[in-house]
Amino acid sequence: MDNINTVFLNNEFLKPEQAKVSAFDRGFVFGDGVYEVIPVFGKRPFRLGQHMQRLNNSLSHLGIPNPMPAEKWQEVIQQLINSNGAEDQSIYFQITRGPAARDHCFPENMTPTVFGYSQTLKYPDQKTLEQGVSAITAPDIRWLRCDIKAIALLANVLMRQQAKEKGVTEAILLRDGRVTEGAASNIFIVSNNTLMTPPKGDQILPGITRDLVIELAHANNIPCQETEITEKQLFSADEVWMTSSTKEILPITKIDNKPVGNGKPGPIHKTVFEIYKKYKQDFRSGVVSD
Ligand code: PDD
Repeated sequence: MDNINTVFLNNEFLKPEQAKVSAFDRGFVFGDGVYEVIPVFGKRPFRLGQHMQRLNNSLSHLGIPNPMPAEKWQEVIQQLINSNGAEDQSIYFQITRGPAARDHCFPENMTPTVFGYSQTLKYPDQKTLEQGVSAITAPDIRWLRCDIKAIALLANVLMRQQAKEKGVTEAILLRDGRVTEGAASNIFIVSNNTLMTPPKGDQILPGITRDLVIELAHANNIPCQETEITEKQLFSADEVWMTSSTKEILPITKIDNKPVGNGKPGPIHKTVFEIYKKYKQDFRSGVVSD
């Protein structure tokens, strides 16, 4: 909690050590809640509308009412950004159903618990970008509503830990011989100069970075398809990338100890990452609003 100086908890801004929730909170007891991670560039929340829409979708799948109107969310976000002060940050929010005596069914008249904070965003360094990162593959042992950004992340935690213990950055998840996503990222491959990523549905999180990459590829005439990717296609791909709000677009150059393509980040990554950086720069300077 070193670089967090302020947290938002149930309508109050507090020091991290002052923030306390009930041991009966259903987030703690059942993992009954959802979360969001919103990147901040140049002290402005990026793609806020899309992140709030995804949060609303997650909440409505769980039948938790959105505890705050849009203007209040914006106010809280602005205050968290100001209290951190860095140019680039990542905001974490989680909303649980709230505290109640333990009963699997939803208790009545619940007051959701709202918790959030902002941290300085630490990007992958230049060396990592130039070399790419390594990954393992792992069976996707998660439930079948991965489109909900649920705080119950036990399978993701176990798979990321497995990756860490093997000395790699990400676990690429496979279900029925097909790539779903990473333990905490979406996956793209490049094959025959075409960018491919698995389609949206209940097996993946609809990543906001994923949407942006697809949007930028289309706008720049880079062929891009939302299509199933088999394990065989993954291993014969020229390039593989992982995308997320905090890792941005990161090349994966080794999977299960085998090199991807020639083992170096590829030319399509270079092109798309340059386009992405320019887009981010335009956002910072207000040329693009979202
Ligand atoms: N995770 N898929 C999963 C399972 C994720 O956890 C994430 C991001 C993504 C990418 O989504 P986005 O581009 O909107 O960040 C895909 C966040 C960063 C996290 O859990 O910390």
